[in-house]
Amino acid sequence: MTGKIKGTGSYIPVQVWNNDKLSHMMDTSDEWIRGRTGIGQRHIASGEETVSYMAAKAGEAALADAKMKPEEIDLILVSTMSAEIIMPCAACEVQKLLGAVHATCFDLNGACTGFLLALNTAQAYLGGRIYRTALVIGAEALSHLTNWQDRSTCVLFGDGAGAVVLEADPSAVYVQATHSIGNGGGALTCASRNQPGFAEENADLTPTYMQMDGKEVFKFAVSKVPEVIQEVLEQAGKTKEEIRYYMLHQANSRIVSSVAKHMKEPLEKFPMNIENLGNTSSASIPILLDEWKKKERLKAGDWIILSGFGGGLTYGASLLKW
Ligand code: ACO
Repeated sequence: MTGKIKGTGSYIPVQVWNNDKLSHMMDTSDEWIRGRTGIGQRHIASGEETVSYMAAKAGEAALADAKMKPEEIDLILVSTMSAEIIMPCAACEVQKLLGAVHATCFDLNGACTGFLLALNTAQAYLGGRIYRTALVIGAEALSHLTNWQDRSTCVLFGDGAGAVVLEADPSAVYVQATHSIGNGGGALTCASRNQPGFAEENADLTPTYMQMDGKEVFKFAVSKVPEVIQEVLEQAGKTKEEIRYYMLHQANSRIVSSVAKHMKEPLEKFPMNIENLGNTSSASIPILLDEWKKKERLKAGDWIILSGFGGGLTYGASLLKW
């Protein structure tokens, strides 16, 4: 037994920062950002748009799409590394905002692979017949963790949330593989602001913003993503030709193109929305799923592979039947 996706939803912050705006804030240009990343603009959370708020909005939309009531949800998982509040967790805040009174709620941090890891966790609960329904959300406000003086990282990220509703279904198919490389974790880091010395005058706050070795992350992604996709295909006894879409974490359009090339698969099978949203970390895969569902590009019976990669280092792929 596994869960089937019964509904999807997303929330994108209202405020838009395009590349031209960034070029007035720092020494960069639309040409450089588009050429190296495929990003044209990103949405930046402001005002009431906290991680919990965006997560709840995405969750509410997914429930409406699934035609389910909040009280029917047994489990709420929020994947995030950028919640403004440590306790209560974002998932409990979502429960409160939606009135999902019967749900068990917790957060999970797997960086940009987090949504996939949360989906796997929910599937394990459903597979073990512990819960029957789950709301799985990826929600991030990476603009809070971004040093807006560091042009090598800040141009990449955007904010938002995406969600799916899962229901246990004997006809559902779900096959997953995940891996972690703790030894490589130094390539993508962000220290906690909850540490000795943070409040001191002249404290060096640099490590509390996202730090990245862009070239290492690039090499890691383009080598490991094809590997883990192949692993999932073999586990499931499927061929590349049977896959309708590969929905990759939207970190950089050049990473997605490189993966497609490496796999000798047409780029049309790799949906992208990074031009409009930037890298929304663990929100990117569920936002993309929601967008493709709304555009009616997903047909019942389609085989889809989701693949995430990021800080940790962590990476994985999941195959599902739509
Ligand atoms: N605007 C203009 N110039 C810039 C900018 C910018 N925003 N950022 C860096 N540069 C300059 C650099 O200073 C350097 O100048 P120099 O040659 O005079 O020293 C030059 O551009 C080249 O810099 P590189 O870092 O070598 O550029 P690279 O081709 O590696 O591209 C990038 C950088 C886009 C970050 C690339 O390495 C990449 O995409 N890596 C993957 C990053 C990623 O996807 N991270 C997130 C994944 S995990 C997650 O989602 C959390």
